[in-house]
Order: sequence, then C-alpha cells, then structure tokens
Amino acid sequence: MTSEPFRSQLASLEKRGRLRALAPRAGRDFASNDYLGLASDPIIGQAVADAVARGVPVGSGGSRLLRGNAPEHEGLEAKAAAFFRTQAALFMANGFAANLALFSTLPQRGDLIVADELIHASVHDGIRMSKADAVFARHNDVQSFADLIASWRADGGKGRIWIAVETLYSMDGDMAPLADLAALAAKQDAMLILDEAHGTGVFGPSGRGLSSGLDGLHNVVTLHTCGKAMGVEGALICGPRILIDYLINRARAFIFSTAPSPLMAVAVSAAIDRIEQADDLRARLTTLQTDAAEAICAPLGLPKPRSQIIPVILGEDKRAMAAASALQDAGFDIRGIRPPTVPPRTSRLRISLTLNAGRADVLALGDELRKILA
Ligand SMILES: Cc1ncc(COP(=O)(O)O)c(C=O)c1O
Repeated sequence: MTSEPFRSQLASLEKRGRLRALAPRAGRDFASNDYLGLASDPIIGQAVADAVARGVPVGSGGSRLLRGNAPEHEGLEAKAAAFFRTQAALFMANGFAANLALFSTLPQRGDLIVADELIHASVHDGIRMSKADAVFARHNDVQSFADLIASWRADGGKGRIWIAVETLYSMDGDMAPLADLAALAAKQDAMLILDEAHGTGVFGPSGRGLSSGLDGLHNVVTLHTCGKAMGVEGALICGPRILIDYLINRARAFIFSTAPSPLMAVAVSAAIDRIEQADDLRARLTTLQTDAAEAICAPLGLPKPRSQIIPVILGEDKRAMAAASALQDAGFDIRGIRPPTVPPRTSRLRISLTLNAGRADVLALGDELRKILA
C-alpha cells in the first residue's frame, strides 16, 4: 500500500497544529461528558450484572427488523416514551447514528431544513444525506431562522420546514431560545428537531432535558443521547408514533445495522431511573458551577457559566493546544478544541464540569488557569 496521500495530509495537519492522536485518560476530569458521574454508577452496573445473571444475551444477533429485536429494547422504548412524555421512542446505537437517521430520513425532497450554524457534525452529515433543501441560521438568532424560511418561501419553497437545534451547545455551553423557536415553528407549521445531547439528565424536571418545557407539542422530535449525563451509551429518538414508525421503515442507519446489545438497553433503562431520582446530583453540579463562576470565570473576566460547559476561547489553535498541554502537565484533563469542531480562530479550552471532580479541583484549576493565561 502506498502511504500517499495520507502521509502528506497528516504532515499538513501537524504543520497547522491540527494533528490529533489518541491519549490515555489522565488527570482530574474536566473533559468528559459524564456530567453526573453515572458512568461508574454501581446501581446501573448492578442492573447489567443482574441481567447477565438471568441470561440476557450480550449480542442482539441482528438488525431490529430481523432477529435482533429483544424484549429489553422494546421495554426501554416504552419506558423512554413515558419518561420523556412522548408518543413513541426508538433506541439507536449512538447519537451520531441517530442524527444520520433523523436527517436523512424525515425531511423529504421539497422540504427545508433550517439548522443552527453551530449544530453538531452528525447533523451536518445527516443533512448531507438528505434530499431536502438546507440552510444554516446564525447561532441562536431566531430572526435569522425566520428570515431564511421567508426567503425560501419567497423563492417558491412549498414543503415542510424542519428547524434543527441543539438545546445546549456542546462547545459553547449556551442554550437555544426554545420558546421563541417553538413559537416560530407554530407560526410556520414547522417541525422542531431538538438535540438534547448535553441537556438530558442535567436540566428539566427529573432530568428530562431542556425540551421538557415543550411537553405536549406534537411537532417536536427530541434526541436524548445516553452516553453523556446518563453515563451509558446509545440514543433515544422521541416523538410522534407516526414518525417513529416511519424511521423503523425507512431509516437506513436503523435498518441496516445490528441492534445495540440488549445489555445496553438494560443499562439505559437503569440510567433513566437513575436520572429521574438524581436531584441531589443535579444540585451538586449546580454548586460546582457556582464554584467555577468564582474561581475560573470571574478571574479570567469571563461571564458566569450558563451551564456545566465553560468555553475559554483563546483564538489560534496553537495557543489553545499549548494551554491544554500545560494544564494536562499540571494534572488536569482539559482538551483544546480546534476547527473543524469549532469555527476558525475560536480555538478554545472546553471545561466540562462533572461530579468526577469536586470543589477543591475547581479551585485548583482556577489557580492554574490564572498562571497559564496570565
Ligand atoms: C450535540 C451532539 N449530538 C450528537 C452527538 C453524538 O452522540 P453520540 O456520542 O452518542 O454518538 C454528540 C456527541 O458528541 C453531541 O455533542
């Protein structure tokens, strides 16, 4: 095999300070999405151990539409639909596949997808696979969504509108203006697709997410990924029964894929019970956010954090990577985030508050950041 063009492209990434490599986990956790510390939760672990003991298989053996459909999948989906107060739910292997399934399948030829410009890569890839038209609105700017819809209609667009946002942005820690977007959707008879990846478990009553404020609307589809605050793996697409049935029939990422392990369905089911009862954990995370406001944000002149995700925008890639590396040397697991994950010249440190770190860790991080960024 010839090593070109791979070698030269990797060399070019290195030259631009964009080369990535896998590194072992080390240091105090300010990098994971395990916001509530549930990834190592003994109750969830015990639920899986009990399932193994009663003979639940590790492998599903096939696609859900063939032999792969297990009672654990169906039980989880019924529970998720009740918990998230929606008509139906569909369990997918992960959020990336779920977004591919959603965007490549639901919006039809002749429809328009209007997505926030900062929406996750998996939504971009799903949109690329879609036959619908697609445009990107300025971040969190409802007027920009409205203008794009108006100009598409003025150009003769007649189909359905699909508005797509993250409820809590993974690299910026800010929230979508959900009430205003819901009002726009109602006015335009549009569907809302809400990616709750970073909201589920942390926000809303019983951790049902930021979209819980829109309970009862029939034009909403939510995506609850299970690998972040829920501490496990997979994703639950929640919405009207008709759309879930359509996905089961048409979503290639669902149909042509081995069903997730029934044991993971058991783990996710236990994780739903866990987040439902986790007001104490959410309160601890809020306290940590207050600690971070004092120890990290105020000294650096940053605004108070709006969520558990705190971006420290440094600009150039190399500056962000050098700061991350200095923090790692000092024992903090903090990653530098560069384009294409974030827009050019907004490379940053992404500080993620999780219950895997405590107040003392946050104070120590504040001290170190002041030294490094002084
Ligand atoms: C907003 C958002 N959507 C979707 C995903 C993908 O979810 P998963 O990690 O389960 O594939 C992520 C995770 O990176 C995310 O941050």
